[in-house]
Amino acid sequence: MRIDIISAVPHLLESPFNHSIIKRAQQSGIADIVIHDLREYGLGKYKQIDDTQFGGGAGMVLMLEPIVNCIKKLQSERNYDELIYMTPDAPILNQSIANSLSLKENLLILVGHYKGVDQRIRDKYITKEISIGDYVITGGELASAVLVDAIVRLIPGAIGDEQSALTDSFQDNLLSPPIYTHPAEFEGMKVPEILLSGNFPKIEDWRMEKAFERTKSIRPDLLKDA
Ligand code: ADE
Repeated sequence: MRIDIISAVPHLLESPFNHSIIKRAQQSGIADIVIHDLREYGLGKYKQIDDTQFGGGAGMVLMLEPIVNCIKKLQSERNYDELIYMTPDAPILNQSIANSLSLKENLLILVGHYKGVDQRIRDKYITKEISIGDYVITGGELASAVLVDAIVRLIPGAIGDEQSALTDSFQDNLLSPPIYTHPAEFEGMKVPEILLSGNFPKIEDWRMEKAFERTKSIRPDLLKDA
């Protein structure tokens, strides 16, 4: 899968993709993540990319032309399955969105900064808008890192133990059950007996029961969709 990200502050994305599973996925050729500096498409001598809002109001707006020029250049090189815009005023990312995007070939992600982008970009070029939650962060860069991480780890081969991604919280609309590792006892706290029993069908039943209990207590809203 190829993922291109257009950002006004690309340095914010240096670290998130350079460690752990996402780094390995790139090294093994499973995912190719390319970050584009919007400033390179800026206008005039000062490479302008933002301007004040028509009609007044606080905050700068990312201008149309630099973004359109960058999008058009990238579109001339390949076809994108989706052109995604990260913004808080959008449907909220969930596991099912991540699952479906992980099946795509080429994704182009536009990241807002400052007040956001000129609405005409959203009207004409964007095919999907995604928020990472009902709160506002400084820019869409970290939001795009969350989205890309959620997608890339689902691509077959990205995680050594394939089962691991399938048993994540949310894959079946249930939160994960509790997990434990050595030692079996610490400061009087014991690992549940069943997990030491070697009885795997029983362990599976226990995990399902705990996942259900946890979901019911922490996120009962998920059970409506289960
Ligand atoms: N940009 C700022 N806040 C955001 C959010 N919650 N989701 C996506 N992009 C954002």
